[in-house]
Amino acid sequence: MNNTDYHIPVMKHEAVEQLLSNNDGIYVDATLGYGGHTRLILEKTSSKSKLYGIDKDIDAIEFNKKELAQEKRFTLKHGCFSSLDEYAKTWNIYGSVNGILFDLGVSSVHLDSADRGFSFNKNAPLDMRFDRTHGKCVSQLINELPESEIESILKLYGQEKFSRRIAKNIIKHRSNNPIENTLELVDIINKSVIVNDKNKHNATRSFQALRIFVNKELDVLREVLHKSYNILAPKGRLVLITYHSLEERVIKDFIIFCDNNQNTPRKMPIKKDFLKKMFTVIKKVKPSDKEISLNPRSRSAKINVLEKQ
Ligand SMILES: C[S@@+](CC[C@H](N)C(=O)[O-])C[C@H]1O[C@@H](n2cnc3c(N)ncnc32)[C@H](O)[C@@H]1O
Repeated sequence: MNNTDYHIPVMKHEAVEQLLSNNDGIYVDATLGYGGHTRLILEKTSSKSKLYGIDKDIDAIEFNKKELAQEKRFTLKHGCFSSLDEYAKTWNIYGSVNGILFDLGVSSVHLDSADRGFSFNKNAPLDMRFDRTHGKCVSQLINELPESEIESILKLYGQEKFSRRIAKNIIKHRSNNPIENTLELVDIINKSVIVNDKNKHNATRSFQALRIFVNKELDVLREVLHKSYNILAPKGRLVLITYHSLEERVIKDFIIFCDNNQNTPRKMPIKKDFLKKMFTVIKKVKPSDKEISLNPRSRSAKINVLEKQ
């Protein structure tokens, strides 16, 4: 099966256009996936450019190893983008990167894979890790965490109104049988949710919450944003494709931090225009109606473009 047949990159042209300020530049695709954005970056840049692709998922890495084997300008890395500062030092590009692309969250390949546990529509082992070589999967966590912690995860990362009932029923169920598969959890959620949402499957919020928690998605995003200033060259850009309000919140908080933290002691009598901003938001892009109709996954997407000052 060819993975590119069923992952349609979101806002590919818009994101790459915002990323590329210099055709001979150095770029990082921090969420390589099945290379949709990466292939366009390679197409649009010169033979002098360099591109570094990172993914936590070993399946995506193996796919790109074959797909991009002939491409001399491209370097592949299995790992988490929160370590980008270390990778950039190893690659000798720390402080010289012209743009970093983040296309956050899951790919369609994850949702469609029968064995990954990301989808509430398919029965599979309850895993949901991007990196299956590290850490505990969702089934291990929900079978061992205390009820209060499960409730907080569902509330915090899924904004789930019935988090208390779901957590209670998880504990009740696991006292007889460990919860191992997606559809067992869906059944527990369906029995716990009292008012059904007409537009969303009952399990949407809980699955999102557990995925964010197991992959520490918001923590690693926060970490890499704070590291990015020193990784980028002057005027270097961060292009972030987000899919939900919690990712947007992390970016907004980072922008507020950048506006307040101007690297100068607060009490110094210094003129305001002398203070240096770290990043400026230069653009926000939403998908066109045409893209949403061709690729429903893009419906909730937004691009945030930040430029180093
Ligand atoms: C939405 S997909 C990217 C799709 C890609 N742009 C394409 O067009 O094929 C997100 C990818 O980022 C990876 N990922 C998620 N969090 C990551 C992290 N912290 N570090 C590295 N890769 C990550 C996932 O494994 C997934 O393959």
